[in-house]
Amino acid sequence: MHSDYSILIEKSIRAKKHSYSPYSGFSVGAALLTTKNKIYTGANVENASYSLCICAERVAYTKAVSEGDKKFKAIAIAANGKEFVFPCGACRQFMYEFGDDIDVIVVRSAKQFRIVKLFELLPGAFDKTFLKIK
Ligand code: THU
Repeated sequence: MHSDYSILIEKSIRAKKHSYSPYSGFSVGAALLTTKNKIYTGANVENASYSLCICAERVAYTKAVSEGDKKFKAIAIAANGKEFVFPCGACRQFMYEFGDDIDVIVVRSAKQFRIVKLFELLPGAFDKTFLKIK
């Protein structure tokens, strides 16, 4: 049985409202739950120089890590549309750095969501274990 993520899901939906996405028109919100039950939110932030766009997930992670939180239980990611929106490849790698055993909750509405583990989304990941030099 999964944890009750209703508050986290609600916060991800609310975070979407702060998306700055004039170029894609695609709003994404994220809510990241730490092991101490603190929640950091994020939204995608775009730029006229397109390659500088930052996804909602990375905004939430950088807010948390830069405030001293590095241990997470779950992240909810909310987007509009007919399909569930899963994190992009760059975000999968970025999140993996801080632990792969977290629940990734992809959200279409408060009642329509799916939960997967981050490790399921990035098999064969490159991580810090490859950098341990003897
Ligand atoms: N985007 C996210 O914020 N998260 C995702 O998981 C997928 C894509 C954003 C990036 C860009 O601002 C817009 O959605 C369209 O790609």
